Amino acid sequence: MSSTAVIGLQWGDEAKGKIVDLLTDRHDVVVRYQGGNNAGHTVVFNGQTYKLSLLPVGTLRPSITSVIATGVVINPQALLSEIEQLRSRGIPVGENLLISDRAHVIFPYHIVEEAVLEDSRGVNAIGTTRRGIGTCYRDKAGRSHAIRIGDLYHPDTFRARLEEIVGQKNILLKALAPKTQPLDAAKIADEYLGYAAALKVHVADTTSYLHKALAAGKRLLFEGAQGSLLDLDHGTFPYVTSSSSSGCGIHSGSGVPERNISRMIGVVKAYTTRVGGGPFPTELNNEIGQHIRDVGREYGTVTGRPRRCGWFDAVAAGYGARISGVDCLSIMLLDVLSQLDQISICTAYEIDGERTTDFPSQVEDLARARPVYRTLPGWKRDVSTLRRLADFPAEARAYLDSLAELIGKPVEIVSVGPDREQTVFCKS
Ligand code: IMP
Repeated sequence: MSSTAVIGLQWGDEAKGKIVDLLTDRHDVVVRYQGGNNAGHTVVFNGQTYKLSLLPVGTLRPSITSVIATGVVINPQALLSEIEQLRSRGIPVGENLLISDRAHVIFPYHIVEEAVLEDSRGVNAIGTTRRGIGTCYRDKAGRSHAIRIGDLYHPDTFRARLEEIVGQKNILLKALAPKTQPLDAAKIADEYLGYAAALKVHVADTTSYLHKALAAGKRLLFEGAQGSLLDLDHGTFPYVTSSSSSGCGIHSGSGVPERNISRMIGVVKAYTTRVGGGPFPTELNNEIGQHIRDVGREYGTVTGRPRRCGWFDAVAAGYGARISGVDCLSIMLLDVLSQLDQISICTAYEIDGERTTDFPSQVEDLARARPVYRTLPGWKRDVSTLRRLADFPAEARAYLDSLAELIGKPVEIVSVGPDREQTVFCKS
């Protein structure tokens, strides 16, 4: 057994794409199993930067099979334009990409409805990516308004169902936002049947494919999107995404039980970031936060929004590690902290005078949490050129040791820059 999972332990954007890309060589199949085009993976490959959203990172290597599994929600237009982008840069995307016929489809009404709902929440808006992800997952759970990829290949029933759904959505949208223009079911059906034709070569029963791949001894690499603290069930609800973005989602989203995975790698940044609303105890609304944002280029891949930045929160990341069941850590963007005199790590919270290392289940409690910090001296030296842990400044090693100790998992990979070579393997 040598299948691996790469899971973010914070609020997403942990640079998982780089780790997935590094590991693809040692695997045969890369699997995306949740989320949609709300995710953003930036990968530097052959000296070129690629920004992927729906496509698994494995798609950059045509020798690998990439699977968009059942738990993903698919905007076919976005998917086709991503495929086209790769093709236009000389990367062939053909039968090496498989898309689950069970995956649910995002329609224009999902995007309009999400915008209406977000706008109506005012200051309490979730701060979603406005890609219709949450509204599509909601319709999946509700079933009456849900359409799956496989349904697009039964044009008559698809048209009839869409007619009915769009009729109801128009009534709903008019009630919520009277100025909304009604949507035209026939036009949407024509458009989506065109997408279906273009995607046909990729559509498959991916669950069956993955089971056969495992039986044939193929090595799978599961690529998580977002992070554990954005998990619908276990994250900072309601400021979460609508899928199981912790390790918990692998089984339900792919149909592959976790017992088939031999190594779960938890990916964290050397600090913390968050995009969108919701409490963030270690947020730094000061020049240090701005410094981290500038040096780490902390702006959203999908929406371009500036990310909120703060110190490493070991209470939050430790919780992420426990719910995801990771074996080891990959610490990303360590180089971003190189110029700081001192670096703090949140080791506990104080809530209403009580000290705890438990991650609160209620956002109201998390919002009142005051971080208890361990402050370490900075290393004040460029680490981006180092390739061996033994060459790291003692202060940087002490920092990594603290993260491992507080989370209770060993550090196996340290990333000191965006390129593949800027990676230190602490244990092979
Ligand atoms: P949604 O996933 O678009 O519904 O957004 C819900 C929350 O998840 C918002 O706070 C988003 O900013 C956040 N989110 C969604 N995708 C990502 C991601 O890939 N990285 C970081 N945050 C994300």
